[in-house]
Amino acid sequence: MSDHTNCQVTFFSGENIPLEMHKARMVQRLHLRGVDERLAIITQAGNNTFLLPNRDVFLDMLTDSGVNAMSEAQYAAMMLADDSYAGSETFYRLEKTVQDFFGFKYFLPAHQGRACENILATTYVKPGLTVITNYHFTTTKGHITRLGGKVLEAVGDEALNPVSQNPFKGDFDLALLDRQVTEVGPENIAFVRVEAGTNLIGGQPVSLENTRKVAAYCQKKGLKLVYDASLLADNLYFIKTREKGCENKSLAELVREIASLMDIIYFSGRKLGCARGGGIATKGEEDFMRMRDLVPMFEGFLTYGGMSVREMEAMSVGIQETLDFHVISQTPIFVAALGEELTKKGVPVVTPYGGLGCHVDASRFIPQVPQDQYPAGALAAAIYLISGVRGMERGTLSEQRNPDGSEHHSPMELVRLAMPKRVFTLSQVKYVADRLEWLYKRRDLVGGLVFIDEPKTLRFFLGRLKPVGDWQEKLVAAFKKDMPSGL
Ligand code: F0G
Repeated sequence: MSDHTNCQVTFFSGENIPLEMHKARMVQRLHLRGVDERLAIITQAGNNTFLLPNRDVFLDMLTDSGVNAMSEAQYAAMMLADDSYAGSETFYRLEKTVQDFFGFKYFLPAHQGRACENILATTYVKPGLTVITNYHFTTTKGHITRLGGKVLEAVGDEALNPVSQNPFKGDFDLALLDRQVTEVGPENIAFVRVEAGTNLIGGQPVSLENTRKVAAYCQKKGLKLVYDASLLADNLYFIKTREKGCENKSLAELVREIASLMDIIYFSGRKLGCARGGGIATKGEEDFMRMRDLVPMFEGFLTYGGMSVREMEAMSVGIQETLDFHVISQTPIFVAALGEELTKKGVPVVTPYGGLGCHVDASRFIPQVPQDQYPAGALAAAIYLISGVRGMERGTLSEQRNPDGSEHHSPMELVRLAMPKRVFTLSQVKYVADRLEWLYKRRDLVGGLVFIDEPKTLRFFLGRLKPVGDWQEKLVAAFKKDMPSGL
């Protein structure tokens, strides 16, 4: 059998397009509403794409979380699930999968990634302590600050540059890390957190070399090192394809090496494992014992942690499938395909193309909208309005206000068009690029948003906003002129 697992097929024509190494055998009917209907729907949803009913969404690019396509092996495994509260065979299978995958002995199940963060933060974060991370994630920061902790970020300047050639923008700036540790004092640091596939800066990976250096530094300073492996699949792909010296390492070897550098690893099983769940693995018994009792308290008994047995079975198989290069390549190659299409059309996107999704740069797309009027949120609403495509705001709206009530401006204003694994086709990708090209040509019409209902925490999930002025009506009129069918 030829080994085709490590290389991408090239087209004789020279075209650089992604080729699917799977076929669709179960499909879902989609609905594309007309632009007038879409205006009523986005208004009803408070201009927040989180509040759109999925029936009114054409292409759901909000997230990959829990919506990656599952394999036939995952569905088959769900049928074998052992339903019992305590001591389920399903749990032991999942535990063994996680142990084999990371090479860690201890495993705690939890219902999703943020549940792991809750357990982790509740155990290790005390008022006044600091967590240093390459870059924060919304729910991670939410839990740490909820407990009186502080978050410092240690990525380099390049990470926040949307136009870059740096293949590993998620890397720690080691000099900055050292300055932060010295200033705060190692005794005041709860842990250092490495986020694989750094979500909020555009799905940007962390190199193995940088991870090794961070681990060596933490060991020297006696700091606990925690790995958020939610986006490990994408990160692995980039290590394998971009990092010198890693081309010939197997994916299993890479995972084991990364894990060997960590004390604790947690993940959202909605991303890693393409199911719906989560878990925490620890190298040592002490960390396991410190967190263990919180699982029955917040999640469920130790042998299910809030997950259904069917999801645990799907997650076991999904985690094993992370070691299949074709499975993990699907998101990055489709993200790159969309990125290329958009770049060709002049639409500003984050480079290098990362994992997770294609990130449209709202700061350059609609520079006329001030950050206090949420350019990324406004652009996400405009994209739905003119295409039925649902993206996610990743900018100031996703930040928490400063203690004095002023806006905490995000260093980047991005709209993420997520690319769940094996879900969308190339023609759908082309549709997205086409509509964004149209919007970019009419970008002068797009205005800002203001809150009409602003939740105190994680406001991006449930907040409702309205447009400043009548820009949405004008945009709809312009769209109908060019696309008389309104579709
Ligand atoms: N860590 C990272 C890096 C994440 O991307 C997420 C979720 C979590 C933790 C929390 O996991 O959702 O299972 O509770 N990211 C999703 C997203 C929500 O859309 O990017 P969860």
